[in-house]
Amino acid sequence: MATILGIETSCDETAAAVVVDGRRVLSNVVASQVELHRKYGGVVPEIASRAHIERLDSVIQEAMRVADVAPADLDAIAATSRPGLVGALLIGLTAAKVLAWRWGKPLVAVDHVLAHAYSPAIDAEPSPWPAVALIVSGGHTSLYHVHDNDTIERLGATTDDAAGEAFDKVATILNLPYPGGPEVERVAAGGNPRAVDFPRTLLGPDSLDFSFSGIKTAVLYAVNGPGRSSGGIEKLTAPEIADIAASFQAAVVDVLVTKTMRAVDRTGAATVVLGGGVAANRTLRRALSAACTARGLRFHAAAMPYCVDNAAMIAALAHHAHARRDWSGLDTDVQSHS
Ligand code: KG4
Ligand code: ZN
Repeated sequence: MATILGIETSCDETAAAVVVDGRRVLSNVVASQVELHRKYGGVVPEIASRAHIERLDSVIQEAMRVADVAPADLDAIAATSRPGLVGALLIGLTAAKVLAWRWGKPLVAVDHVLAHAYSPAIDAEPSPWPAVALIVSGGHTSLYHVHDNDTIERLGATTDDAAGEAFDKVATILNLPYPGGPEVERVAAGGNPRAVDFPRTLLGPDSLDFSFSGIKTAVLYAVNGPGRSSGGIEKLTAPEIADIAASFQAAVVDVLVTKTMRAVDRTGAATVVLGGGVAANRTLRRALSAACTARGLRFHAAAMPYCVDNAAMIAALAHHAHARRDWSGLDTDVQSHS
């Protein structure tokens, strides 16, 4: 049995968790900074770093308290080291190094996106691997072939915007508040998904990569008129805005489902798992679940606490690295990219 403290500070969530054996989550504490960034319409890196410094100590203490563990009960300290905002990552990784050194525990540096890919396994019974994992969030949109707990192979990723980022930008175009994904979903519920024929960018018949910048521009022109980037939203009625939101959402979901099924064909996997913040989107969950049912595939979406940025997934993936004695030195550095 191994008990691991995980720390996550790659973007705008300050998080710590204690997880046993990569599955049993004793605590999962997340201090969201969304209120601090809302008025800027996006994450401001300097504000994120400062907030991590201010909050991380108490978030770690809370995770240890809720889990009812003392330092002596821990087998390793894990933290996200990549990818993410460099300043933000540094806060969490440095804290983990200090605790590892002070408490005499091994350090495990974790790739945040691989942790997202692993996250559906936390609450899947039995283990979902091997599976195709679709990870969609504000920072990432990737497909993985997860062979087992130790082998996660990336099949494709976005070449520009992440899916959640596209939702957020479309929300801004439609004058909806930040973060925009849930708002677009809410407004889309009252619209016709076939009202506007937005492009489905598939990047060639074999590609497992994604591109969402074209559809974002298409929404901009649908609102403002061809070649125009402002001045249109005030002229649209609420039903017209709902139609645009619904048609945008349908196009993004279409692309995500199509590419995931391509990945299934490529790998021969019998299971599909879904993770990342955009997994909260009910249209996506329904469409992916229906596509899986139609092909006789098993489908499992991670529970929401493990979809949004969290440290449980960091501690959970770290369990397997720890079991392989794949530890990281105290000279490990952060990286903005995977
Ligand atoms: O995983 P997450 O919390 O943070 C990142 O790692 O980015 O994902 C946040 C993203 C945001 O872009 C947000 O707009 C999007 O997930 N999101 C949604 C929904 N809920 C959150 N997008 C579409 N529909 C939703 N219901
Ligand atoms: Zn993330």
